[in-house]
Amino acid sequence: MKKSNYNLPFAVLIILAFTSCDNNNNKNKMTTAGSSQTTKTGIKKTDWGEHDGKKVYLYTLVNNKGTEVKITNYGGIVTSFISADNSGNKSNIVMGFDSFKPYLQSPPYFGALIGRYGNRIGDARFTLNGVTYKLAANNGKNHLHGGLKGFDKVVWDASTSPDGTSSLTLKYLSKDGEEGYPGNLNITVQYSLSDEDELKIEYNAETDKATPVNLTNHSYFNLSGDVSNTILNHSLVIDADKYTPVDTSLIPTGELKSVKGTPFDFTTVEKIGSRISQVTGGYDHNWVLNKKGNELQKIATLSDSLSGRKLEVFTTEPGLQFYTGNFLDGTIKTSAGKPINKNTALCLETQHFPDSPNKPDFPSTILQPGQKYHTVTVYKLSVNK
Ligand code: GLA
Repeated sequence: MKKSNYNLPFAVLIILAFTSCDNNNNKNKMTTAGSSQTTKTGIKKTDWGEHDGKKVYLYTLVNNKGTEVKITNYGGIVTSFISADNSGNKSNIVMGFDSFKPYLQSPPYFGALIGRYGNRIGDARFTLNGVTYKLAANNGKNHLHGGLKGFDKVVWDASTSPDGTSSLTLKYLSKDGEEGYPGNLNITVQYSLSDEDELKIEYNAETDKATPVNLTNHSYFNLSGDVSNTILNHSLVIDADKYTPVDTSLIPTGELKSVKGTPFDFTTVEKIGSRISQVTGGYDHNWVLNKKGNELQKIATLSDSLSGRKLEVFTTEPGLQFYTGNFLDGTIKTSAGKPINKNTALCLETQHFPDSPNKPDFPSTILQPGQKYHTVTVYKLSVNK
């Protein structure tokens, strides 16, 4: 954040007024469906609280369709993603809260940036260059999503671009030894929202010692915009001929198994609920994407016939964790008081494969000093009218 912004007297509420990305006024004075209000593109910053002695803000990114994504610098959490459905009604398609406090009760990674290592590391340990590193066992005997205080629970330094475009840059220094990991890791994540309803997430990192890195975002989607509906009627395609089967503690066995003839086959469009009962606990697995190399490619499409919404996922990553909200049990409620029950939201977490630091045959997740970690994921929303 530019220092001068802190000096503004009205900083408590709005620091960066909504500003146009260019001088085209028409573009920035769009009337949203079903309302006569003027929508302006850009980014707005609101005070949200304080944590660990640092200020927590809520940033609202808006595009020229009036689609709105809210992100806080606490955990880099996407707290809401509001878009119009096929009737022009707007609703939030991700799980999140409208105030800061509920996030301190550790909802299961709602919308958060995950690191240093997304998903599980078996037996909470790995050996690198002859040294065994012990990590917190925060998921039975395994390590999950970066440990006790992963990147989802820290306050990131945030900055917005001076031209007022709908993008937010978050930075965090994860110190050598944090949560047991080696090396000072400097991470930069940039969120941006395009006028084509693409939420783009770019992850960059550098280290001064070799370390595993696997960054992702843990948004829970329900495209209907209403948690009263489960996601079992959503349809899904995943461009993956293989997945990584897991043991009872959800650690990959190491095998890359064909999805053919199994409930894991989403190579053609399938209702999520049609075979879920054949999968113990529900889907919570990593798909081995067919894409080759590091180019950004479409790897999954989620759609909901109720709202007409469609979400396409593009990534540079080799894997996708598809999780059907199996551990949600209604204990957590939305800000409107509705219980978030089992299978009422799902995650499409782009990533490297779980437990890669202990699986030499999986694509490597080790970042070496001098190397640049760079991955991109795009969630693109559209509506079939
Ligand atoms: C990931 C994991 C799940 C679960 C959720 C959070 O998706 O794969 O097993 O831990 O995060 O509850």
